[in-house]
Amino acid sequence: MSATIASTSGAPHTAILGLGAYRPSRVVGNAELVDAIDSSDEWIQQRSGIKQRRFATEDETVQMMSVAASRAALEQAGLAAAQVDAVIVATVTHLMQTPAVAPAVAHELGTEHAAAFDVSAACAGFCHGVALASDMVRGGSAKNVLVVGVERLSDILDLSDRGTAFIFADGAGAVVVGPADEPGIGPVVWGSDGEQLDMIRQREDWREALAADDPQMPFLMMEGKAVFRWAAFEMAKVAQAALDRAGVGVDDLDAFVPHQANMRITDAMARALRLPERVAIARDIAEQGNTSAASIPLALERLVADGEVKSGDTALLVGFGAGLAYAAQVVKVP
Ligand code: UT7
Repeated sequence: MSATIASTSGAPHTAILGLGAYRPSRVVGNAELVDAIDSSDEWIQQRSGIKQRRFATEDETVQMMSVAASRAALEQAGLAAAQVDAVIVATVTHLMQTPAVAPAVAHELGTEHAAAFDVSAACAGFCHGVALASDMVRGGSAKNVLVVGVERLSDILDLSDRGTAFIFADGAGAVVVGPADEPGIGPVVWGSDGEQLDMIRQREDWREALAADDPQMPFLMMEGKAVFRWAAFEMAKVAQAALDRAGVGVDDLDAFVPHQANMRITDAMARALRLPERVAIARDIAEQGNTSAASIPLALERLVADGEVKSGDTALLVGFGAGLAYAAQVVKVP
């Protein structure tokens, strides 16, 4: 038999059609955390730029925050849930190995049996999701794809660990990726460096954690200094490569929205990229902390809400984190 399998192709171009955010209700200032880690508000602000962060309450689950951000993104896109063909949720804090949270989000939103799966690429997860969604729409396997970046990192934070307690936080951001007349999402530049797996990881896996005499949550750990060096030097190159692949120069850029890891990393990347003064730089970390997969859509939403960027502007996104995984692309702001 020599059956011929039909091929599909989708839209010639894709864009972000809508953007939404959910910021948890509980604001946690540095003062609340410093005693347990022998630190100070001044040290935290100087070394990370963080003034406060938000921790989710019991009711603000990964699913609940995802749905709230998604509804806002769908509203801006002018789409009903039934028009969503696929839901991609980027997260490392849906603390249920299976099933994924994406089908639950798709169901609660009211999609009609949308394909739904989670992506585990830590702080690079949102940019991975956007890249997948864009290629799915161009490849013809979906028309409209919802991409969510969501974390409840407070669940896996050891609040007595000086290296992580003050950095990580909770929240959700979402975008709808769909067909467009002009390119609105540039080629992705992505990769991983598994040689540095241990730089950011959970202390042990679930089996090891449960086998301990005094079982504890497998908390998040980070070699902060090493990650800082890698991020500050290597990620500017990845961001530049994304600009080059999109054929966009720094002079054409309106906004720079890196993963909100540390204000000093953002500043170092902006210097290395030689961004012109007029480029808006996302600094949501000051208010929101480092929300891993959620940080880029949250930071972009803040720039829009503050009037620093507007619809049609060109923004450079770069996500990086555990893996070590990274992904960057140029996008048009919806
Ligand atoms: O989201 C995924 C990607 N993540 C990142 O990109 C995060 C990258 N890393 C970082 O953001 C930074 O490394 C941290 C903010 C985590 C730490 O800042 P640092 O400037 O790298 O601090 P350090 O570990 O080099 O410590 C500097 C000093 C040390 O004291 P001495 O040896 O200079 O006397 C530490 O003992 O600060 C001390 N220190 C602290 N002091 C107060 C370390 N942690 C603390 C603390 N509070 N929490």
